[in-house]
Amino acid sequence: MDRIRTAVIGTGFMGRVHLEALRRVENVDVVEVAATSLDKARAAAAGYNVLNSTGDWRDVIHDPSIDAVHITTPNVSHFPIAKAAFEAGKHVLCEKPLAMNVAEAQELVALQAAKKLRGGLNHNLRYYPMVQQMRGMREAGEFGEILVVQGTYSQDWMLYETDWNWRVDPKVSGPSRVMADIGSHFFDMAEHVTGLQVSSVCSDLQTFWPTRKQPKGGGESFSGKLGATGETVDTPIVTEDFGATLFRMGRARGTMTASQVSAGRKNGLVLEIYGTKGGATWRQECPEELWLGHRDTPNQVLLKDPSLMIEPARAYADYPGGHAEGYPDTFKQLFRRFYASISDTSLTPDYPRMADGLRQLKILEAELASHKAHAWMDVPA
Ligand SMILES: NC(=O)c1ccc[n+]([C@@H]2O[C@H](COP(=O)([O-])OP(=O)(O)OC[C@H]3O[C@@H](n4cnc5c(N)ncnc54)[C@H](O)[C@@H]3O)[C@@H](O)[C@H]2O)c1
Repeated sequence: MDRIRTAVIGTGFMGRVHLEALRRVENVDVVEVAATSLDKARAAAAGYNVLNSTGDWRDVIHDPSIDAVHITTPNVSHFPIAKAAFEAGKHVLCEKPLAMNVAEAQELVALQAAKKLRGGLNHNLRYYPMVQQMRGMREAGEFGEILVVQGTYSQDWMLYETDWNWRVDPKVSGPSRVMADIGSHFFDMAEHVTGLQVSSVCSDLQTFWPTRKQPKGGGESFSGKLGATGETVDTPIVTEDFGATLFRMGRARGTMTASQVSAGRKNGLVLEIYGTKGGATWRQECPEELWLGHRDTPNQVLLKDPSLMIEPARAYADYPGGHAEGYPDTFKQLFRRFYASISDTSLTPDYPRMADGLRQLKILEAELASHKAHAWMDVPA
């Protein structure tokens, strides 16, 4: 296969980020965009120089000339679109969370394996260069045995009762909001960096706004922060604004919080790991820096610079030191690896896969069960 023909389904925040990033992948042509209406699809296609557009994602599935699809729609449609795409013989790159529950995710993992297709899950935040540096140093034994894992993913865009998004509706988003939406990024990164798996959890979730003011007409993600206008309806809320989880990773112990109501925090993802030889902290809001903690010598802050990075992490830093690589670059890194694995079927995938999406849903279901039962829950392997 020479050039790979792909399509993007969904043209909201993620749809646009995927369309931009795909222009930076050498062996891919985006040939179609699908949205909820033809007008929306045409507008997005025109912005990214894509020839074809449709108001029905099934047109993409039925086009035998399309090799792969990106699913960037709200969570409820990930499963039916991914299932139809695999059945039609297409590779799938799906936004997180993979599905609404473990059962759906298991079906997708089995279907992908049966069809021998590639399936990627967009836990892109792994691909900040300094996250890879942290991982590389841990693999090289520089932190010793990992004892403690701490962190948070904190945002403020749902702080007010007037803040609204499809994510508050469990029929569209699933039974959890913050733990599924951003807690999953924390756990994906924590497992990827430490090489350990979360074995059990004890969670407490809180919904601060029992009702929210739903705008008549809706809106795309994060548009509410620019100021909602117009009529609203008081709508009961059942998904959490905040969650806290104590967790075990074998012998290691950890804590994390996830929040959409922490004033001032925009995308405050923080991962701290502490081992028998040293520690490290990475913050998404200052992504070019890695704090390195020592017990007996002064602590250090490493600024991203490929010449100073550990060898395996260098492949994730494309620019020289001092030229920041940020959020959009993480998509480029993931997509390049995904499409390389389609071109070369002998490559072992080195990107998050359907199985990683299934894993996150297992952690999530254990968190929900723990909160409900006020008890520790084991996470199935
Ligand atoms: N990896 C990340 O960093 C990241 C960040 C944000 C969101 N996400 C994920 O991306 C997905 C989309 O989130 P978003 O923030 O872009 O939402 P959004 O509301 O900005 O965009 C969703 C788009 O999908 C469209 N859509 C809905 N149903 C559709 C259908 N059946 N066919 C075609 N289009 C459809 C909507 O009209 C909208 O334009 C979610 O699953 C979310 O969890 C991932």
